[in-house]
Amino acid sequence: MQLSAAAVSAMLTGVILCSLRAAAVQELRHPPNRIAIVGAGIGGTSTAYFLREKFGKHVQIDIFEKENVGGRLSTIEMEGYHYESGGSVIHPLNLHMKTFVKDLGLNVRTLDDSLVGIYNGEEFVFEESDWYLINVFKMIWNYGLNFLRMYMWVEDMLDKFMRIYRYQTFDYSFSSTESLLHAMGGDDFMTKINVTIDEAMQKSGFSQKFIDDIVVPAMRVNYGQGAKVNGFVGAVSLAGTSSGLWAVEGGNKLVCSGLLYASKANLIQGIVTSIQEKVRPTKSGDTVRLYEVNYETDKGPALDMYDIVVIAVPLCKEIGNIKFLGFNPPIESVSKPYHQMVATFVHGQINASFFGCPKPCQFSISEILTTNKPGLFFDSIGPVSPVKPVPASEISKASDIKVWKVFSPEPLTDEQLRLLFHSYHAVIVRKWLAYPEYTPPEKLPPIILHPGMYYLNSIESAASAMEMSAISAKNIALLAYHKWFGKDEQIDQEDLVERLKSEL
Ligand SMILES: Cc1cc2nc3c(=O)[nH]c(=O)nc-3n(C[C@H](O)[C@H](O)[C@H](O)COP(=O)(O)OP(=O)(O)OC[C@H]3O[C@@H](n4cnc5c(N)ncnc54)[C@H](O)[C@@H]3O)c2cc1C
Ligand SMILES: *[C@@H]1O[C@H](CO)[C@@H](O)[C@H](O)[C@H]1NC(C)=O
Ligand SMILES: *[C@@H]1O[C@H](CO)[C@@H](O)[C@H](O)[C@H]1NC(C)=O
Repeated sequence: MQLSAAAVSAMLTGVILCSLRAAAVQELRHPPNRIAIVGAGIGGTSTAYFLREKFGKHVQIDIFEKENVGGRLSTIEMEGYHYESGGSVIHPLNLHMKTFVKDLGLNVRTLDDSLVGIYNGEEFVFEESDWYLINVFKMIWNYGLNFLRMYMWVEDMLDKFMRIYRYQTFDYSFSSTESLLHAMGGDDFMTKINVTIDEAMQKSGFSQKFIDDIVVPAMRVNYGQGAKVNGFVGAVSLAGTSSGLWAVEGGNKLVCSGLLYASKANLIQGIVTSIQEKVRPTKSGDTVRLYEVNYETDKGPALDMYDIVVIAVPLCKEIGNIKFLGFNPPIESVSKPYHQMVATFVHGQINASFFGCPKPCQFSISEILTTNKPGLFFDSIGPVSPVKPVPASEISKASDIKVWKVFSPEPLTDEQLRLLFHSYHAVIVRKWLAYPEYTPPEKLPPIILHPGMYYLNSIESAASAMEMSAISAKNIALLAYHKWFGKDEQIDQEDLVERLKSEL
C-alpha cells in the first residue's frame, strides 16, 4: 500500500496530538502519594515490585503482614534441613516467576522426576517404570491415546495462557478476572471455569477410566480435591505434571523477600483490621478520596491514609477477615471458603506392604498419588529434598529412609502414621487453608472493590498458583496506573491477539 505524504503527515500529527494529550492528563494529575498493600505473600510483594516500576521512586508503598513474608510460600525445618511446606513447584513456562528469580539473582533448583504410582486403596492402578518404552507401552495398553491427547489438550491451553505475557508487556490491563481470562482463552476459558474438569474432559472425548485413574490423582495432589474442581484449575493442575519443574534454591519464599527489598516498600508487621473510605477537602477547594487503613501492631492500634489500597490476602472470614466500613454498596467477604490441606513431614521408612507389595519387596515407586477412593485418608505421599543442595558427604546411605511429605485433608493420627511408615523418627505437621474450595460454575470476585481499592486474590477463584498471583499483581499495578492517569485505552481492550500481531 502506498501512503501519500499528506496521509503520513496527518497520521504523525495524530500521533503527536495523542501523546500531547496523554502528557497533559499526566500533568494534571499528581502521582499518588501513598499506596497500601495488605499481605506480603508472592501476590503482595510482586504487586509492590510492579507498582514501583510503574509509579516511580517517589510514591510511598507500605505493605502490611500479620505473620511471615512469603505467606503460603514457607519452609519447615527438620533435623537441620529446610523443606518447602507450602507452594513448592514452579512450571517452566511461569515467566514472571522465572524473571523474578533472574532479576533478584537467585538460583533455580531443578526437581528430579520421580517414578509415580497411582494407588486406589488396594493396589497400584498405574506404575511408572525406569524404562521409557515400558511406560509408553503401559500408557497405550491401558489408556489408548488418552495420554497423548491430554498432552495436546494442555499444550493448547498453555498456548492461550502465554498470551497474557504479551498483553502485559504492551501495558494492557483488565478490570475483572473474567475479562482477563477471556482475553487469554476466549469462550474456551470461560466455559472451563463453568464446568468441572470431569465434564470438560469428557466433552473433549477422554475416557472415564483415564479421568478417574490419572486426572483425579493429579487434582488430589495439587489441590486436595477431586474431579469436581473447575476445568481451568484442572488444566493448570495437569500442566503441573509435565517435566522441567523447578523451585528456588534456598526456598521459594526468597522471591518474596527479594521483591520486597527491590521494591523499597516499607514492611509494617501488623494485622489490618478495617478499611474505611474518607473524603477530604483539598487546598484548591476540591475533594480527594482516601482510604483509612486501621491495623494493630504489638505497639497497639494505629491508622494511616492511602490513595490506593491493594488487598493481597484471601477475603474469606477465616483468613483475611478485614472489615470494610462505610462503603456503599457494602463490601463483604467476597471469597468462598478455603480448603484445608495438611502437610505432614516424616523422616522414616515407608511401609511397602501397606501398598500391597509382598515381602521381600521391590518398591521402586517414590511418588504415590491416589484415586478418589472413599475412606482413603491421604491424598499423596512423596519424597522431598531440602531447599539447599546437600553436600555429598551428608547424603544418607540408606536410600529408603527419606523425608516424605504426606498431604491429607485432616491431620494424620498415630495409627495412620504407623500404617504408612514402617518406622519413623521425626514428624512435623503444617496445616494450611491452602486454596479455594472449587465448585463450578465459579463466581469470580471483583478485582475493583472500589475505585482505588483492588483485590489481588480474585484470580484464585479461577486457579490458585504462585504464577497466578504474580500475573494478578502485574495486572493490578497496570490497572491502578491507568485508572489513576485516565488511560482507559489500556484497559479491557478486545481482540488484543489480532491487534498485537502487527506490533514488534
Ligand atoms: C500446601 C500448598 C501447596 C501448594 N503448592 C503449589 C505449587 O506447587 N505451585 C504453585 O504455584 N502454587 C502452589 N500453592 C499455591 C500458592 O502457594 C499460592 O497460590 C500463593 O502462594 C498465594 O500467594 P498470595 O500472595 O496470593 O497469598 P498468601 O501467600 O496467602 O499471602 C497472604 C499474606 O497475607 C497475610 N495476611 C492475611 N490477612 C492479613 C491481615 N488482615 N493483615 C495483614 N496481613 C494479612 C498472610 O499472613 C499472608 O502472608 C500451594 C499452596 C499450598 C498451601
Ligand atoms: C458461565 O456461567 C455464567 C453463570 O454462572 C454465565 O453468565 C456465563 O455466560 C457462562 N459462560 C460460558 C462461556 O458458558
Ligand atoms: C504396614 O502395612 C500392613 C498392611 O496394611 C499393616 O498390617 C502393618 O501394620 C503396617 N505397619 C507396619 C509397621 O508394618
